[in-house]
Amino acid sequence: MTPQHDVTPATDWWRDAVIYQVYPRSFADGNGDGMGDLAGIRSRLPYLRDLGVDAVWLSPFYASPQADAGYDVADYRAIDPMFGTLPDAEAVIRDAHGLGLRIIVDLVPNHCSDQHAWFRRALAEGPGSTLRERFHFRKGRGENGEQPPNDWESLFGGPAWTRVPDGEWYLHLFAPEQPDFNWDHPAVRDEFRSVLRFWLDLGVDGFRVDVAHGLVKAPGLPDMGHGEQLRLLGNQVLPFFDQDGVHDIYRSWRTVLDEYAGDRIAVAEAWTPTVERTARYLRPDELHQAFNFHYLNTDWDAAALREAIDTSLDAMRPVSAPTTWVLSNHDVVRHRTRLGGGLERARAATLLMLALPGSAYLYQGEELGLPEVTDLPDEVRQDPSFFRDAGQEGLRDGCRVPLPWSGDVAPYGFGTGGSWLPQPADWAALTVEAQTGDPDSTLELYRTALSLRRTHPALGAGAFVEWLDAPAGVVAFRRPGGLVCTVNTTAAPVRLAAPGRVLLSSRRLDPSDGDFALPGDTTVWFEE
Ligand code: GLC
Repeated sequence: MTPQHDVTPATDWWRDAVIYQVYPRSFADGNGDGMGDLAGIRSRLPYLRDLGVDAVWLSPFYASPQADAGYDVADYRAIDPMFGTLPDAEAVIRDAHGLGLRIIVDLVPNHCSDQHAWFRRALAEGPGSTLRERFHFRKGRGENGEQPPNDWESLFGGPAWTRVPDGEWYLHLFAPEQPDFNWDHPAVRDEFRSVLRFWLDLGVDGFRVDVAHGLVKAPGLPDMGHGEQLRLLGNQVLPFFDQDGVHDIYRSWRTVLDEYAGDRIAVAEAWTPTVERTARYLRPDELHQAFNFHYLNTDWDAAALREAIDTSLDAMRPVSAPTTWVLSNHDVVRHRTRLGGGLERARAATLLMLALPGSAYLYQGEELGLPEVTDLPDEVRQDPSFFRDAGQEGLRDGCRVPLPWSGDVAPYGFGTGGSWLPQPADWAALTVEAQTGDPDSTLELYRTALSLRRTHPALGAGAFVEWLDAPAGVVAFRRPGGLVCTVNTTAAPVRLAAPGRVLLSSRRLDPSDGDFALPGDTTVWFEE
């Protein structure tokens, strides 16, 4: 059963889509409790339509004790009351489709919440419970089983095992409240195919697959090895990440997605050692896209950017998957701050990204030029990694501060009841209201760029860039269809012959006849 779609059915819509990540806690608060929710999202969908994005990815809104901001799911088919109800979710999907926006929901298959019904039963029934086989329960090492079963560490810091009162240990690659599923168990596989269908039947256009590289663990759960440094992005295959067996799961999901009309897609959050290994998730019978974390991790350096772009495009071509580009998300320092060059560099980085062939992911608030909030008091922080041994240096709350929409004082139109993380006192100039209509604002830059992406034949589609000769520190390429993108990654102006008319620039330019100085940290789109 497939509900009516108002979005134009289009094959391959995702190949050059701009997909905007909504982090529900922090997007808009509809009921005034200081926490973003589905009603808030629904009321702001016209804003996203006007921004010019093609699809919206919603981070988890499922029933959850919120030990990891909703990435600890207690019920995959229910909405957490703090976000609303199932009819609210259906209304978001329906309204989005009515506005021509597609909806991608987050799927968290590596682990659930310790409050999930299966895990609660597994604990209650004790050792020998068949429910324990759906997770990774083991006896400990040492004389009395007092040592964890192996040496794996949690990505949030500390051991990846927690001992329960009856003496057994269970595996959690993330927080102890997030037990890992055992994907060798057929009930786990069946359950997730059913969850996919549940949301597809409600009309979603796709899934963002959380920790897609982590589901299958090496047989026997071998030690990762003494002295190994656990990193999200390692340079080797770890016994719990990027195991070859994971691909069977995605093949079985693809058959489910393909049962539905209208190109339903899945995008993998897959941290792998190389882009070539990421491409393996995107073979024609597996998933559609993967986040390009290699690009996200690239410094603001001309040679490094060129190399990352080439490597990414080269890796995806053999599997015919679109390359994706991403600069910010809810797990990393916002790119305005991370790239180290302030707002001008962030704007230049965005225009570079949006000129590349393939699909681009935006994170809410980057269109406002929001910086990372780096001075949150410890007592307001909620990120579990902050509390566990600084596994990710406790940095994830600073990119999750609620959006400023309007007005001069916090919560800047986010809602009527404050905001769950405090917003800086100087965000009045960054609100949607303050930036709307100001041609120099970052919001209007994004609006113009996204509108050009929809209309200009050289933007978006394709799989190639043609590199052009450029002075040191400058990246320049042509896209078929007559567009040249030139990026000055240095701090100093560079004199250039303009290859054509300026279509869009990340900074106000002062062009003279055919030859002008490209300011530092600036990207220009030229039309030949
Ligand atoms: C992914 C999510 C992150 C979450 C983790 C565990 O990396 O993006 O926010 O903490 O998975 O689910």
